[in-house]
Amino acid sequence: MTHWTHVLQEHWGITADLTRLDGEYDLNFLAEGPEGAGYVLKAMRPGCEAWLVDLQIKALDHIAVQEPGLPVPEVIAARTGEKLLRLADENGAERLVWLIARLPGRCYAHAAPKTEALIAEVGAVLGRSTRALAGFDHPQLARDFKWDLMRAEWIAADLGCITDPARHALLTGICEAFQALRPQLEALPQQAIHNDANDYNILVTGGAGTREGARVSGLIDLGDMCRAPRICDLAIAAAYLVLDHPKPEAALAALVAGYHAEYPLSAHEVDLLWPLLRMRLAVSVVNSTLMAAENPDDPYVTISQAPAWRFLEGCTLHGGLLNARLRAACDLPVVDGAERVMAWLDSQRGHFAPLMGEDLSEAPMGSLSVEHSLWPQNPFDMPLAEAARVGEEFEDEGRIWLGYYHEPRLIYAEPAFRKGPWKASDRRTVHLAVDGFAPAGTALHAPLDGEVWVAEDRNGHLDYGGVIILRHRTPAGDPFYTLYGHLDPEAVQRLSPGDRVARGQAFCRLGTAEQNGGWAPHVHFQLALSTEGIEADWPGVGDPDEMYFWRALCPNPAALLNLPDEKVRYQPTDKAEVLGKRRAHFGGNLSLTYSDPVMLVRGWKHHLFDEWGRPYLDAYNNVPHVGHAHPRIQAVAADQLRRMNSNTRYLHPAQTAFADKVLSKLPDHFEVCFFVNSGTEANELALRLARAHTGAKGMVTPDHGYHGNTTGAIDISAYKFNKPGGVGKPDWVELVEVADDYRGSFRRDDPARAQKFADLVDPAIAALQARGHRVAGFIAETFPSVGGQIIPPKGYLPAVYEKIRAAGGVCIADEVQTGLGRLGDYYFGFEHQGALPDIVVMGKPIGNGHPLGVLVTTKAIAESFDNGIEFFSTFGGSTLSCRIGKEVLDIVDDEGLQANARDRGTELIAGLRGLEAKYACVGDVRGMGLFLGLELIRADGSEATEICSYVKNRMRDHRILIGSEGPKDNILKIRPPLTIEAEDVEMIVAVLDRVLAEVPV
Ligand SMILES: Cc1ncc(COP(=O)(O)O)c(C=O)c1O
Repeated sequence: MTHWTHVLQEHWGITADLTRLDGEYDLNFLAEGPEGAGYVLKAMRPGCEAWLVDLQIKALDHIAVQEPGLPVPEVIAARTGEKLLRLADENGAERLVWLIARLPGRCYAHAAPKTEALIAEVGAVLGRSTRALAGFDHPQLARDFKWDLMRAEWIAADLGCITDPARHALLTGICEAFQALRPQLEALPQQAIHNDANDYNILVTGGAGTREGARVSGLIDLGDMCRAPRICDLAIAAAYLVLDHPKPEAALAALVAGYHAEYPLSAHEVDLLWPLLRMRLAVSVVNSTLMAAENPDDPYVTISQAPAWRFLEGCTLHGGLLNARLRAACDLPVVDGAERVMAWLDSQRGHFAPLMGEDLSEAPMGSLSVEHSLWPQNPFDMPLAEAARVGEEFEDEGRIWLGYYHEPRLIYAEPAFRKGPWKASDRRTVHLAVDGFAPAGTALHAPLDGEVWVAEDRNGHLDYGGVIILRHRTPAGDPFYTLYGHLDPEAVQRLSPGDRVARGQAFCRLGTAEQNGGWAPHVHFQLALSTEGIEADWPGVGDPDEMYFWRALCPNPAALLNLPDEKVRYQPTDKAEVLGKRRAHFGGNLSLTYSDPVMLVRGWKHHLFDEWGRPYLDAYNNVPHVGHAHPRIQAVAADQLRRMNSNTRYLHPAQTAFADKVLSKLPDHFEVCFFVNSGTEANELALRLARAHTGAKGMVTPDHGYHGNTTGAIDISAYKFNKPGGVGKPDWVELVEVADDYRGSFRRDDPARAQKFADLVDPAIAALQARGHRVAGFIAETFPSVGGQIIPPKGYLPAVYEKIRAAGGVCIADEVQTGLGRLGDYYFGFEHQGALPDIVVMGKPIGNGHPLGVLVTTKAIAESFDNGIEFFSTFGGSTLSCRIGKEVLDIVDDEGLQANARDRGTELIAGLRGLEAKYACVGDVRGMGLFLGLELIRADGSEATEICSYVKNRMRDHRILIGSEGPKDNILKIRPPLTIEAEDVEMIVAVLDRVLAEVPV
């Protein structure tokens, strides 16, 4: 090493410490100088041809001039001004030596997650480098070597090394496809290309565990440069980026779009990407099979082929459909002639034969959208009885009404529309056709001449029933297709592929629900510019995240209906507009979760849906205790609103029924209920009761607690008053340390920790008294939630209560987070502690979303409060609230939700403990039932706030909503509605596993 340190010093004048980097034959050293500047000193293998280095140096210099900001290594000249030196190594052998500036980052191969944004940036960097190299030339670019894709046919002669017949056949097919394209390839202009932008030659910075996404920081190693059509360069990068990518088609679209934005491609170049990609992988597996034969003892050679084989053998992408997608990603015509077809259709608008036999310009539109429609009530189940009635609210004595194109809907509830194993997996929701609803038997007329392309009876559950696809041609000869679904299958029996259908001909009829797959009678009328890759299963709806593509392939068919596009095109509420208005009219401290906020418009049990119908597993919201949109809550609310809704100044049996139900869940010493509107209001009232009963004001409360947003509640909420800008601690409040036995003063290995934490109350009481305050009481979230989902050691609360009572105070249990069965084994948290409070406060879940707070207390305390001044809360205890509150508690009992919280909680904790054992950043898993926390830590055990934010946002990317909490916001908070099921628990654990794997160790 000292030899090379000396070389660097002598020839470049750089003093640095050298570390040897990987490299089979060449010596590569990382040189780090005292000022932190980094270099890579490259001493090539003895005998290395000078042209190889010369080619790279000249190319790098060329790029530096053409594209100054591009992250490629700068070549550093030696003192003499030369960039390539011939020097002896420590053994006296002559080597070519050169120096480049080191680029920051790690290999793309080790970067996680590989988001589409990052892949698009790889495409952009590659596009810029290829553009920069367009004017570069070097005699060695034309050399003959095996990695030049234009010479890839060499593998054909070596295919014999692949002994597995299926693999042999696969590669033979790829070679044949490649050979067939050779004339097209040869017709393309050629230029200097990088030729090896594999995942070890791309560097990235940032990403996992940080707030900002990963960025490309380097494109290195130009040693394989050659002259070829530029699409070869992109195909080589693509061949590596797709390997083991969960959505290879999306990765390719992002890569190609990123490249195209910098160095625009033609549609025909784009079409070559897929066969070239496959050919590159074929070269790769053949090459490594040959190498394995030469080095039978090196298992790595075989292992390294595995991802390429997995991709080649397992990938089901259809080349034609992929081409359309890649073209759409580049905003190029999705198929040749697409723009001519659309222009012709537009020019003929108003002149097509009327599909439904009449002018539709006045036909009303009916929305079945996620936002505007309630079909189906359960977005995971569309019973036939409901499907047959879809849209009945738009029925008007059999008159035609139309359903929107481009409308996200939840009616596609069958698992076939899901794109993954979970209920919250991506699903296809966006309608790609226009619907014409009319009575069964209504005749359909061909809008123009066509030929039957497909005639089928797809009589599966909620499928198309009778379906016909016609093929048409514009006068210029460009083909396009129209699809008619949900027909009476009679037409399918009568018509066969190849039959001519004349403009205006009544060629089929709408089927009944029994004939048309089960739906209310209507036609699904869709236009498509190609059927390649979708013949077998023509999709009538698309994934909202892939609309750029489906909209291009299946455009709005309005022209064929003689209608303006705008009439039938659905426009969902624009999230950006809502966000803008919110920013304009709402306070800035009304916070929004997620860097890219979600807009949620429908819910069902423990799932939520955004405006595009994307499903989310709600593992965070504890307010919808018995599930979102519970039918029984809907029913009692509607029922009561139909009758009357008034206040507690009048008698109503619903009030006493609710009080009876609440008290039935509590020890007998609680006899009196107060109904209010929120947890905050209940805590305010608790303070008044404590003061009235004790005649004192002093309060003791754990640090980091939260009890509400009003002046009084903030005064006892250290979580708020102690924040920068907070009002500070009032002198009548004293804080005690949270009984956190993971991070606090007394840990789990200390058997006396409960008492030791409780003893901290003594000095707090003394401090209040020293300031002249007698003790009115103690208030705590029974299990501190905002403090970090903490379960205090058993026995803590009884010991605290004893001290408070001895000092004359009352004990208030804030059970807003913990009550009503969430804990599984206990209905309230204080039961776990073996403690008996004097006042219990309930909120959030008790109304399942309806604003409701409840306070219960003893007769004696209630009497102290009853001093002749009326207590009145206008909406607290309204008839409606009482009906809803009682229904919530009844549902918890009737549906066994407390037991479900226990069972699912046990499963979840087991899964999370598995992750704790697997990932160093999981410091602690704690909780009970469905009140759970996962504490994320750094290597030194400190709070990993950044990682927590990263994980929370990534979980959302994977369609799971969870929260974060704790004084340092490093605790993932999992608190789903109590309806959660075993498969949802599996999803949470599986997705968390994936996301945690992205976090660098
Ligand atoms: C423990 C606790 N108490 C009281 C409240 C206040 O309830 P609300 O927001 O319904 O007023 C909250 C709210 O988050 C809470 O978590």
